[in-house]
Amino acid sequence: MSFSVSESVKAIKPYEAGKPLSEVEREYGITNAVKLASNENPFGCSPKVADAVLSQMPEMNRYPEPVPFTLCQKLAEKYHVEMENLVIGNGSDDIIALLAHGFLDPGQEAVMPLPSFLMYEICVKTAKGVPVMVPLKDYSTNLDGLAKAVTPETKLVFVTNPFNPTGAWITKDEFLRFADQLPDNVLIVVDEAYIEFVRDDSVYNSLAEPMADPRIVTIRTFSKAYGLAGFRIGYGVMDKGVAEILNRIRQPFNVNSLAQVAARVALEDTNFLSKTISETHRGIDFLTRKFTDAGFEVVPTQANFLMVNVKTGSRDVCEKMLGKGVVVRSLASYGYDTFLRINAGTDQENQVCVDALISVTGK
Ligand SMILES: Cc1ncc(COP(=O)(O)O)c(C=O)c1O
Repeated sequence: MSFSVSESVKAIKPYEAGKPLSEVEREYGITNAVKLASNENPFGCSPKVADAVLSQMPEMNRYPEPVPFTLCQKLAEKYHVEMENLVIGNGSDDIIALLAHGFLDPGQEAVMPLPSFLMYEICVKTAKGVPVMVPLKDYSTNLDGLAKAVTPETKLVFVTNPFNPTGAWITKDEFLRFADQLPDNVLIVVDEAYIEFVRDDSVYNSLAEPMADPRIVTIRTFSKAYGLAGFRIGYGVMDKGVAEILNRIRQPFNVNSLAQVAARVALEDTNFLSKTISETHRGIDFLTRKFTDAGFEVVPTQANFLMVNVKTGSRDVCEKMLGKGVVVRSLASYGYDTFLRINAGTDQENQVCVDALISVTGK
């Protein structure tokens, strides 16, 4: 190719998304495949979303609201913040990209765990920044290591709580001790994509108390517990000055009208959310029990997925499970060669997954 591609972009490893169901079914000539690879909501989304989205259809010749007013009002109320503290994104991926573009000059650093959710690295490199990666310690974020990696060039630090892909968590005490070690000019990005699934009260929740630390940027999503992954909508809660920067550089219509309506309705349907959470916990407990009984090692989790050591090459296991119509994630590309990441599904999906894993590993 004769175009000159930016050196930082050349270094980007493409994001490996879980295969869509339609692709698996086409490739393997199967139907009713079970997908437990992308930490999605297996129970769909609030049944109220469909009606609300349909009623928005007559307005679809219009541009969406640049700032979804009612949704922002509801979020502001929920978290006891002002609307100026919010940024709504085309998925929380959008917020991650905006942070990297808004706060990194070329060569400046963003510190993050290794491995991490790949979009941190991709967005930082796309913004010509430098990702500085600190290996996990026993599947958990090495908070002291992250703090030590901060230099005068560091502008962002990413933490994920609960952590993807291990399901590990950071307690409130651990987080506060960590934040104390960081300078005032570093933004602490706390990605809480899976926070709704947390069961342990000691786990840090950055929005549980009124915002006190202007360095903290919370990122949340409607893709997981709310079941709206296909709509693409997430949000950030942050200091007004930080939000102003992100709102200045985002596309004016970054979130489409249907996603705005869907999120507003989903936020109100607390029954659907509670049901999702309790069923997910049941699913995680079931998978943990069955995998442990089969002799696999399961890493404790506070998320809607778990990491399991199948003690043999996980790429191969994944491929064989695909043949049985079950899509799970190999963590070989994260450096965990014998581990799978599996999210809780419906009762039936969980049983199919357990049977397939036991069958392909000969347990
Ligand atoms: C830790 C983490 N952050 C952010 C996201 C992005 O979510 P979305 O862009 O769908 O809001 C994901 C998706 O898997 C994730 O695992």
